[in-house]
Amino acid sequence: MKVFVTGGAGYIGSHTTLCLLEDGHEVVVYDNLSNSTVHSLRRVQELTGRVVDFREGDLLDGDAIDQVFDEGGFDAVIHFAGLKAVGESVAKPIRYYRNNVVGTLNLLESMEKAGLRRLVFSSSATVYGDSSDVPLVEKSPLDATNPYGRTKEQIEDILSDLRASDPRWSIAILRYFNPVGAHESGQIGEDPQGTPNNLLPFVAQVAVGRRDKVFVYGNDYPTPDGTGIRDYIHVMDLAAGHIAALGYLESHTGDFRWNLGTGRGSSVLDVIEAFSAAAGHPIAHEFAPRRPGDVAVSYADPSGALADLGWSARRDLDRMCQDHWRWQSSNPYGYAGPPTSNDLSSN
Ligand code: NAD
Ligand code: WQD
Repeated sequence: MKVFVTGGAGYIGSHTTLCLLEDGHEVVVYDNLSNSTVHSLRRVQELTGRVVDFREGDLLDGDAIDQVFDEGGFDAVIHFAGLKAVGESVAKPIRYYRNNVVGTLNLLESMEKAGLRRLVFSSSATVYGDSSDVPLVEKSPLDATNPYGRTKEQIEDILSDLRASDPRWSIAILRYFNPVGAHESGQIGEDPQGTPNNLLPFVAQVAVGRRDKVFVYGNDYPTPDGTGIRDYIHVMDLAAGHIAALGYLESHTGDFRWNLGTGRGSSVLDVIEAFSAAAGHPIAHEFAPRRPGDVAVSYADPSGALADLGWSARRDLDRMCQDHWRWQSSNPYGYAGPPTSNDLSSN
């Protein structure tokens, strides 16, 4: 298939692009590089020995998307592009609704014009809000608690309405749980700008010596060790889920929702222990107050994806930490390398 991948230079997009190329697909990546660089795609080219056709462009520029689609031959779109920082979305809601919702509307309009009606969309377990009814099934009530999560919920509604208006659409909505890890080569991985919001990249930066210690947000949750429990999923398993969804859409029309998680929960202390083992040294941590908006426990029931797609996550938490560590230890400062004196003087 020829696949248009929005946000393909980012964390999950670059790993999925690699898997698509290895699977023999042709890929055109469309990304405005607002939270990524082309280094990730260079590495994907090196790893696969295949060319990534990269177009720098913004979803807010519908004409630019049309121009790419006018070249013809596309079979499907995988739509990763979006802003994803929960805290920033609370501070800058307009930016999030415009980028994520308006950007998606532009993409859908361009797809309609091009007669392209096969789409895989990156949703998130965040749409379930603070439901305490675990494991979460696709039919669990949606109740996102922040603007970022609401952009995902709104886009899911838009996609349902679109397919109700025209039954020729084939749409896979993938609700990721907590993506972590990296390609086993250690050559591509997550490269957060500034202070990481998420646990794994923070732990990894402590392990590599860029930060002093991990702050564990809350040790008084009603969980076995008092810390929050999440369903961490290896990014390569996630990438495989996209390939499986794409295959499903070749022979099915409709709008489908699948949880992509392992179905197993790990606590913050479990993660720190597994990462310490991977890195070969203890990781300093300190208990801190709960982070506002966090739920105690979240994990998926991933049986829907197994039944429909034949997909399930294969890599366990130890493997996630080993692969994340290989990436972090080989690239302590991410793709850009260590800061230079020029970086410091320009701040
Ligand atoms: P990422 O920031 O690494 O990748 C997103 C990419 O989209 C970036 O390369 C960015 O430059 C690009 N982008 C953003 N806005 C754009 C625009 N208007 N036009 C063109 N490109 C644009 O994030 P990620 O972790 O790879 O996440 C990918 C998708 O998965 C996002 O939609 C995110 O909301 C969703 N998701 C991520 C997680 C997670 O924890 N990483 C969990 C659930 C869902
Ligand atoms: C995991 C656990 C924290 C950082 C977020 C988004 C969600 C989705 C995935 C995009 C929690 C604890 C964290 C730290 C800690 N993203 N923690 N110290 O909150 O489950 O989900 O990322 O869709 O929308 O909300 O992931 O990695 O931030 O936190 O103790 O420095 O680690 O309290 O229990 P979360 P996370």
